[in-house]
Amino acid sequence: MSTTSEVSAKPEAQGREVGVAILGHGTVGSEVRRLMEENAQDFAHRIGGPLALRGVAVSNPTKHSRTVPEELLFDDAMELIARDDVDVVVEVIGGIDYPRQLVLAALNAGKSVVTANKALVAAHADELAEAADKAGVDLYFEAAVAAAIPVVGMLRRSLAGDQVERISGIVNGTTNFILDAMDNTGASYDNMLAEATRLGYAEADPTADVEGHDAASKAAILASLGFYTRVNFSDVHCEGITGITADDIEAAKNAGYTIKLLAVCERITDAEGTESVSARVHPTLVRRDHPLASVSGSYNAVFVEAEAAGRLMFYGNGAGGNPTASAVLGDLVGAARNKVHGGRAPEENTYASLPLADFSVVPTRYYINMRVRDRAGVLAELSAICAKHGISLRTVRQEEAEEGARLILFTHTASEGDLATTVKELEAFEDVLAINSVIRLAE
Ligand code: NDP
Ligand code: HSE
Repeated sequence: MSTTSEVSAKPEAQGREVGVAILGHGTVGSEVRRLMEENAQDFAHRIGGPLALRGVAVSNPTKHSRTVPEELLFDDAMELIARDDVDVVVEVIGGIDYPRQLVLAALNAGKSVVTANKALVAAHADELAEAADKAGVDLYFEAAVAAAIPVVGMLRRSLAGDQVERISGIVNGTTNFILDAMDNTGASYDNMLAEATRLGYAEADPTADVEGHDAASKAAILASLGFYTRVNFSDVHCEGITGITADDIEAAKNAGYTIKLLAVCERITDAEGTESVSARVHPTLVRRDHPLASVSGSYNAVFVEAEAAGRLMFYGNGAGGNPTASAVLGDLVGAARNKVHGGRAPEENTYASLPLADFSVVPTRYYINMRVRDRAGVLAELSAICAKHGISLRTVRQEEAEEGARLILFTHTASEGDLATTVKELEAFEDVLAINSVIRLAE
């Protein structure tokens, strides 16, 4: 940012003041307010008029009295939104039901909204977009996916002239932080989850991170934007990392893989040429020489494959107060500019309305780690079960175990449905003592 003396040499920003309400002053909200104040003069020039903070709504005002002047602290967010001098509302509270009421109230009152709330956007996108359209105001949510990485704007604007085929990657910082530490240092799951919470990466309820719900919300948003088709949170197949053990990580390592929680959104074309959309989140084995394997800590990476652009990769800070504030403030500058000069952000557009693919037809590959009775002929019988369902085995490794033998199977690509049926049958087979884990493999 410019120094004060450089700024004072620039002409005054001439446009009108834009009133801003910030709802939430936690990890993200406090950074948004701080950076908005520190960079006020630059923002005024970029917008064409100054931003004026009208208030900050929190649940416990006394907690914030050292950083926010008393007259700007509100314990009733609705009261702040309703003020005539508020033009743009920044929602960084989190959750779904209450923020939904707040955001709808703001949009219905003709205020533009900037939110970082992926859970809200992924659950109520149609309703929110409709309210924004009706009022002719902006609804921005860049920070809702991969924090500082500008993937929402990239899909909304930069790739609007292309045909997106696939969007995949690591979109949850907390789980990447945990898996990376477990892989690199053998740190425990519980300790690393506590550390991710302390660092401000995790959601207020970290279950949303570790169960994959946060990544599923982001996948829903990415798929909706990329395929011009409404995909809601409930449409995304979702598996989290709570079942991943140190043993899985060790076995993956020995086989040359690391485990990442991936979100995959893709356009699927069947033999008749009918297109559908699949969105899913699950732990995935990634080869150690794959670019995703080196995405460490709370970093995120998103790959986009588009017809004309080819393969694109976006990488950066996917969680935390500062990176998220960067995305929120970019949206705030955009919304404020439109208030000063007129115009609107690109609207939500779901004209393609592609059907959702049945999860069972999605092509995938499995890694199966199981314990079997150590007797002659077992391997042949297990292979026969796989073959019966058209599953071809790519590699099979046998290791000694305390009881029986450990078998590690890597399959070739098959449909999700056939692979799931095969695992069920293996589970029921008398010589299989336990299926320790089943993890999909990245293509
Ligand atoms: P925090 O839990 O740190 O902060 C939440 C804030 O909301 C607190 O200031 C809290 O007030 C306030 N609040 C809670 N309930 C109310 C209420 N009823 N009325 C007014 N204010 C209320 O959350 P984060 O900053 O981490 O996250 C905010 C949003 O940003 C979430 O939607 C999250 O998913 C999203 N996000 C977060 C990222 C991150 O890395 N943290 C990254 C990308 C998106 P008080 O302080 O008084 O308790
Ligand atoms: N809890 C989220 C994560 C915050 O860990 O990625 C960023 O959206």
